[in-house]
Amino acid sequence: MTSGVLRQVADAEAVARVAVDLVVDAAFRSVAERARFTLALAGGSTPRRLYQFLASAPFRERVGWDRTHVFFGDERHVPPDHPDSNYRTAREALLDHVAVASVHRMRGEDPDAAAAAASYEAELHRFFGLATGDPPPPLDLVLLGLGPDGHTASLFPGSAALDERSRWVVAPFVRQLYAYRVTLTLPVLVRAREVLFLVSGAAKADALARVVSPVIGDALPPAARVRPETGAPVWIADREAASRVPKGLWGTT
Ligand code: 6PG
Repeated sequence: MTSGVLRQVADAEAVARVAVDLVVDAAFRSVAERARFTLALAGGSTPRRLYQFLASAPFRERVGWDRTHVFFGDERHVPPDHPDSNYRTAREALLDHVAVASVHRMRGEDPDAAAAAASYEAELHRFFGLATGDPPPPLDLVLLGLGPDGHTASLFPGSAALDERSRWVVAPFVRQLYAYRVTLTLPVLVRAREVLFLVSGAAKADALARVVSPVIGDALPPAARVRPETGAPVWIADREAASRVPKGLWGTT
């Protein structure tokens, strides 16, 4: 069994509503302690409603956006205005509506995805003032989703990216999608001060159950390998997504 805290809520709207309070809290603590808030946004569709909440009253006024630096956990290999772009989702739902201190976009438009990954890693080094060989940066909060196959960010089952131990950003060819992706690697994800997974819908039920209670002999779902050094991730899942989680295995609140 992997460790974690599972907060089971009614539906997708409740996932976003519970998550927005946790993001606001993390932002407040980060700014109070370090005068800035470094936030890595999740891709996919689940977090859109959370981003809309963050851009709306009363939550919008509760975040120090002028101290907030936005990063991305992963990006599709598409231009930033493409319908599949994680940046476009975040821009439309949040970034166009709040004045953040900086946005660090993965360049999905770069024809060479590996070059996009390398330039993002260089950007992380610059922003955090870290040299080659230094440990990865401790992002204050990383938001992540869960795929039906147990992937998170763009770390898919069977991918060599899961075994990356030194690079912070890679560009795996995802055979399940027949497409390249750009993604943070596990060394970065586990350095996060806080990790928050957002999971909604029956399609995720099997994956979430395998995260909470891995099947002996099966490969651990990639999402289950995100074990932050600072403590267990927080999972917010709606009833449909949590429907196959063995009762009582995690502190459900
Ligand atoms: C992506 C994501 C990916 C996503 C899950 C869940 O770029 O697609 O980073 O890991 O979080 O696939 O996606 P949904 O929220 O759309 O179900």
